[in-house]
Amino acid sequence: MTAPTAKDRLIVALDMPTVEEAQRLVAALGDTVSFYKVGLELLFAGGLELARALKAEGKQVFLDMKLLDIGNTVERAVANATEFGLDFLTVHGHDLKTMRAAVAGRGTSKLKLLAVTVLTNLTADDLKQQGTSLAPADLVLRRAQLARESGFDGVIASGQEAGRIRAATGRGFLIVTPGIRLTGSSTDDQERITTPDHAIRAGANYIVVGRPITQADDPRLVAETFINHIREAELPG
Ligand code: C5P
Repeated sequence: MTAPTAKDRLIVALDMPTVEEAQRLVAALGDTVSFYKVGLELLFAGGLELARALKAEGKQVFLDMKLLDIGNTVERAVANATEFGLDFLTVHGHDLKTMRAAVAGRGTSKLKLLAVTVLTNLTADDLKQQGTSLAPADLVLRRAQLARESGFDGVIASGQEAGRIRAATGRGFLIVTPGIRLTGSSTDDQERITTPDHAIRAGANYIVVGRPITQADDPRLVAETFINHIREAELPG
């Protein structure tokens, strides 16, 4: 597989209430953006059809379903998802059982499976509430290792954890990082954020950016800025 270009490493999260708004944004971004994420908000408003249409236009599509259920259900859901011919699909990476079921459901399809480790809006206190005393970074690492063991292609994790994941999993395992912000911009509800430069230098293969682009006055200009940051971070030294 050839290495993705800086442009291909930016995934824009189409977190919008309607397909029409998402289509307007895609049109405004034009050739600048080649990879889109369709998540829960848009899925309930015709997002699957939009995902198919984006694929037909030659874009790459990440379906952010964040699946979590008993193995049998996850396996069959993933098997049906392969029919859409999309690129990435997320499953919560809590345990081997669920992830192995997803791998079985994927079969021989090219769909890449990514494990959600610990959501980037969660802090150590939030994890304590759930009954885990592990620090977010340690839980992320444990789940990344489980994901690798189960046959997943990669993980979703914050840029703060990307370095440790890369060191533990080696090359070839995908690290996709949301919670990305340019220095000085609003963090919204995110907690474990990093800049694009930091995430890429730490070993992330892709960055996921939502609100900084979807809510910008000039989304194309902001997307270009993110791509320039990726390109600069790729330079040696
Ligand atoms: O708007 P913002 O850039 O914060 O959007 C980040 C996107 O990444 C959202 O679509 C969110 O669902 C997703 N995400 C995340 N943290 C994860 C997994 C996915 O923020 N661990």
